[in-house]
Amino acid sequence: MKATIIPNVRKHYPVLLNEIISIITPRYGGTFIDCTFGQGGYSKKILEYPKTKVIALDRDTDSSKKANEISKKFQDRFLFKNIKFSQLDNLKLQNENVKGVIFDLGYSYTQIKDPKKGLSFETVGELNMKMGINDFSAKEVVNNLEEKELSQIFKYFGDEKDSNRIAHNIVEDRKNREITTEELARIIESSKRKKNLKTHSATKVFQALRIFVNKEISELINGLINAAKIVKKDGVIAVVTFHSLEDKIVKYFFKSLSENKSVSRYMPKDEEKINIFKSLQKKPTIPSEKEIKENPPSRSAKLRYVIKKEDFYDFDTDILEKFDYLIKIENLSDKL
Ligand SMILES: C[S@@+](CC[C@H](N)C(=O)[O-])C[C@H]1O[C@@H](n2cnc3c(N)ncnc32)[C@H](O)[C@@H]1O
Repeated sequence: MKATIIPNVRKHYPVLLNEIISIITPRYGGTFIDCTFGQGGYSKKILEYPKTKVIALDRDTDSSKKANEISKKFQDRFLFKNIKFSQLDNLKLQNENVKGVIFDLGYSYTQIKDPKKGLSFETVGELNMKMGINDFSAKEVVNNLEEKELSQIFKYFGDEKDSNRIAHNIVEDRKNREITTEELARIIESSKRKKNLKTHSATKVFQALRIFVNKEISELINGLINAAKIVKKDGVIAVVTFHSLEDKIVKYFFKSLSENKSVSRYMPKDEEKINIFKSLQKKPTIPSEKEIKENPPSRSAKLRYVIKKEDFYDFDTDILEKFDYLIKIENLSDKL
């Protein structure tokens, strides 16, 4: 699994912006849903095209300031909602001509560097990782869940090879003190059997905790399902992912809706499922060398998209069952 983004840049760059614009073609107009508004990089670019309307979402209230600036400029064409993208279906978008739904997953430079959010192992202080609209923090996870449960989170959400040792050492250590960011980074460092020279030892565990605290797996799955329902014929769903777990989910979902597969293997062969979407990509789009040079954190970005080819707004999907093993891990938080 690729490491989480550790930026060594000073501002947020919208990743793969030109590629996104050429895929969603805002010059023809329509409504675009920017599911991850952030600093508004994508929204602002889309609004440069006069016949467009943007509905932008972000779970982080810190995005509202930027959103208010854009609202002043584009009163009739821009709307911001401080909601999670899994709640897309609450927006009642049936009457909108939705031509694009975009997800730029992960977090912006500003968020990662914000000490209050406690996302980075370089931060001093309380373990937080709440990105907005959360029920619990990383501090509660690390200080309360059982050893086996912590180990599962680190293994499945962070692909951490030393998950058992780290979880064991956390549980031993917390008998004496509450685990802070610095303490957690120290425990991980001392638990690792092999040091990776390219990434910090704590990278994977911190990524795993962030995914767990923000329920990023069910957010993504429900966000994708809702996006596929609201986008109109010829509209596009485009997703930029930053690690292999996210990419695996997006790849599976897009493939399952755009490839010919029998509904059931017991059905006659010609009873084939209708493909609601089509994919024009053989491989995901990745940033150019120039972009990576300007914005090194973009190096792990992958862009996948599909185009709706049928006027269908409901469909069957097995994506929830397929990734049920991950949702079960997310649900360990029920006891917090
Ligand atoms: C990488 S940034 C997006 C940057 C944006 N494309 C830009 O150009 O400024 C991702 C944003 O998505 C938001 N986000 C992450 N998960 C979310 C979710 N489930 N629902 C809504 N917003 C989410 C984060 O708070 C963050 O602001």
